Amino acid sequence: LDLRDRNTFGFDASAELAYEISAAEQIPAVITEIAGKCLPWRVLGGGSNVILPKVLPGATLLMNITGQKILSSDPNATLVAVGGGVNWHEFVAWTLDNHFPGLENLALIPGTVGAAPIQNIGAYGVEIGEYIDSVEAFDSKSHAFVTLTKDACQFAYRDSYFKKNPHRYIVIKVVFKIPKQWQARIHYADLAKQFSENSSPSPEDIFLAVCKIRTHKLPDPKVIGNAGSFFQNPIVPNEQYETLLHKYPELVSYPDAVGKRKLAAGWLIDQCGFKGQRMGNVGVYDNQALVLVNHGNGTAQDILGLAKCIQDKVKKEFGVSLEIEPNIL
Ligand code: EPU
Repeated sequence: LDLRDRNTFGFDASAELAYEISAAEQIPAVITEIAGKCLPWRVLGGGSNVILPKVLPGATLLMNITGQKILSSDPNATLVAVGGGVNWHEFVAWTLDNHFPGLENLALIPGTVGAAPIQNIGAYGVEIGEYIDSVEAFDSKSHAFVTLTKDACQFAYRDSYFKKNPHRYIVIKVVFKIPKQWQARIHYADLAKQFSENSSPSPEDIFLAVCKIRTHKLPDPKVIGNAGSFFQNPIVPNEQYETLLHKYPELVSYPDAVGKRKLAAGWLIDQCGFKGQRMGNVGVYDNQALVLVNHGNGTAQDILGLAKCIQDKVKKEFGVSLEIEPNIL
């Protein structure tokens, strides 16, 4: 099966064997069949956070489970169950149309609802883990459907229990808990800039502002292939941060856990002069140095070559290691 339209980098890729999963009930039999053939397997959602090789060996499960349902609504919160294959941005828009705001900061993130908890998607001061009640998944180890509570999911910056246990769970449904008490969250610098002081933006205003920033900073995958941020923002010990800040007073960073500081990888890469640079068929995006792009006919090898170049230079210049964010399949 051709996967060029199923990965946002737009790499020329195909799956040796593909299974379209449109109902959870299909999964046990599919996993049994794959195990019987001794094939490796993986799940592909929106393909917005993956680096695909030319041929994906073994089995690829294409997640198409849809459906969204309000489970309950009390004075404190609304509980909503959403199929893993639902498009993330469409779900965010739906929550606003139905008057349970809270997810507007996460507008326009590409990908599916099922992929959201795996890397705990986050943007503009909000991470999805905060809004998750539980995740339903198929556990290929115990060969059973399981429900993981929010705590069991171990959400952290771009991390979760699912990410720590790759090739084990298939997310089929996510249950969100959206508090009735809504408060605008516009402290993130880029977002704050969109509103005048003392203004009180509505959820829809924030939704539109986030869409505006993202559209400007991040390339539309339909036009130019990319997978959003290509590296995680590195977290360093305070001492290292202080030393760097002394040398580079313009260093951009965010508070993190006690004794640690999160650095803006985009700034580090930008300082090394990579922004807008091209290396054959791939390159660094003009408006955001953290985003690597496929200018057409690029391959996984090309992008990883460029990534290595960037990692080496940033390490040499700042002594900081950058970790690749999308999954290399
Ligand atoms: N910066 C530069 N040059 C650049 C890019 C960034 O100097 O080329 C500096 C700017 O000062 C900017 C700061 O770095 O203010 C931070 O940049 P930005 O606000 O664009 O955010 P980011 O740290 O680069 C992270 C997430 C994004 C998320 C935004 C907004 C990661 C790896 N990335 O990017 O997530 O949308 O914050 O919250 O945490 C993604 O994961 O795919 C993604 C797009």
